[in-house]
Parts: sequence; structure tokens; C-alpha cells
Amino acid sequence: MTGPPAVWAEAAAVAVSRRTLWSGVDLDIAAGEFVAVLGPNGVGKSTLVKVLLGSLPLSAGRVRVLGREPGGASQEIGYLPQRRSFDPSLRVRGVDVVRLGLDGDRWGAPIPGLARVSAAARRASARVAEVIDLVGASAYADRPIGRLSGGEQQRLLIAQALVRRPRLLILDEPLDSLDLPNQSSVAALIARISREEGVTVLMVAHDVNPILPYLDRVVYIAAGGAVAGTPAEVITGPILSRLYGTAIEVLATSDGRLVVIGEPEAPAHHTDRHSGHPHADPL
Ligand SMILES: Nc1ncnc2c1ncn2[C@@H]1O[C@H](COP(=O)(O)OP(=O)(O)OP(=O)(O)O)[C@@H](O)[C@H]1O
Ligand SMILES: [Mg+2]
Repeated sequence: MTGPPAVWAEAAAVAVSRRTLWSGVDLDIAAGEFVAVLGPNGVGKSTLVKVLLGSLPLSAGRVRVLGREPGGASQEIGYLPQRRSFDPSLRVRGVDVVRLGLDGDRWGAPIPGLARVSAAARRASARVAEVIDLVGASAYADRPIGRLSGGEQQRLLIAQALVRRPRLLILDEPLDSLDLPNQSSVAALIARISREEGVTVLMVAHDVNPILPYLDRVVYIAAGGAVAGTPAEVITGPILSRLYGTAIEVLATSDGRLVVIGEPEAPAHHTDRHSGHPHADPL
């Protein structure tokens, strides 16, 4: 691959409310790669996304996104935030949600007699239809988004993130709340998009298994730091034990899934959700 890395960081650190979440993070993600960001709840995965989008500064180190300072390449980034949901009474159609991904001034409203504006609007409509087709949502894109299933909504939101032809797609837990068959099909869809549109994909994930067959690289974050590499390099007992400073075992099931045993919670958080004891977690 030529050109600058899609994402590059050196000795990066971030703090929220004066608490350092992670530090000493080095990243070098090449254009076109499919990368997962993994780690337990509260460790700072979405915070890494905020840093890459330019909405939160590093407390130390350097980061570049598409060769520029974070925030400098926002026109070339498609972003799907974590935990979206639509009110069932929302009447806006799926196709309109996808269209929101385009800048209003770029697609414009069709004004009779203004051929250039109409041509831009036609191009916009064609691109909207193209990405809806790409994500396989044509059959329901004209229905109100609030009435669609979680998986259908997710496909339309991926289409929205894609509509401006981004070079980098940042997806924060896009498989969250999908059932297993939908996790597999949305994972396969994102991998196909990455290949066919030449997009670098950075996906935050809680469970690596649905995307494991497609991943070029994983970034595993722990309280403190991170390790990056191929899944085979990173998701091992010794590497994760060193990262977390506690004994962690990685088991491979007969169907190729990975199960990480002993992954700790992020410190002093989420005690409402878990007992706080080390637990077995499908990774
Ligand atoms: N603006 C903020 N001010 C203070 N603390 C924050 C802020 N944003 C995030 N945090 C805290 O930083 C930590 C990391 O949050 P983040 O959302 O990055 O975690 P995450 O790894 O994405 O977790 P999850 O898997 O639950 O989505 C959490 O403890 C969170 O409460
Ligand atoms: Mg998060």
C-alpha cells in the first residue's frame, strides 16, 4: 500500500477527568486494513474513537489520521457511534437517514430550471440508492426507520456512514444488539465493503468471533496500554496475561471460536453490571 497509514499513533495517552485511561499506545494501520479494537467495558475503546475523530485531545504522544491531525480529515471518515436506537414512532424513512450522511449543500434540493443543482441532486440520489443496495437494504429503505428491526436499522446506518465514500470507516460496536446470524452477516458485509470500496475499517467490538475470519489486525486495549498485531499474535494467553498483569487463558473451540478466560474488568467501574471477579467472556 502507498500513502500514509490510515491511523498512526506514537506513545499516545488519553485522560478523562484527570484519570489516564491508556498510555504508551503505538498504532500503525495501513490503508485498506480491517482492524478490530477490543478490550473490556470501560477501558477506553470509544475514547480512542473520540481521539481519532478529533473530539478529544491526547494527554501525551502523537496521532495522525489519514496523514493529518485528528479532525483534519473528517470529510473522509464515515462514523457509526455506539448504541444507537430509533424511537418506534419515528416516521423518517430509512432512505432519508442514509441521505443525512451527505452534506446538505452538496446534494441540494432539486430546483426546477437549475440544471446544475438538479444534476447534483440526481447524483446524490444515485449514490444513496447505490449504498442502500450495497448493504442489502433496498427492500425496506422506504419504510419508517423506527419500525425496522435492529439489524435492518444497522445496515441503513452503515449505508449512511458510507454514502460520502469515506477512506476510513469507524464503527463503534456495530454488532451490538444483533442476534448471532445478523452478527455474522453484518460482519461479512463490512468485510466485503472494506474490500470492494477499498475502505480502511476500524471496528470496536466486544466479541471478536464474528469478525475473526476477516481481520487483518487487532488492537487490544487494557487499563494502561494496548497491544496491536494480527489476531494470532495478540489473542494469546501470554500476550494478554502480560497486558493485563494477571493470568489469562485463551481457548480455541472446535469450531474456531476464541474464548478468553480471566479478562479483568476495567478498574473501579461497571460494578453494577458484573461481580468484579475475573470472568469467562466470549471475546
Ligand atoms: N467525558 C468523560 N468524562 C469523564 N469520564 C469519561 C468521559 N468519557 C468517558 N469516560 C470514562 O472513561 C472510561 C472509558 O470510557 P469508554 O466509553 O471509552 O469505554 P469503552 O471501552 O468504550 O467501554 P464500553 O465497552 O462499555 O463501550 C469509562 O470509565 C468512562 O466512564
Ligand atoms: Mg464504548
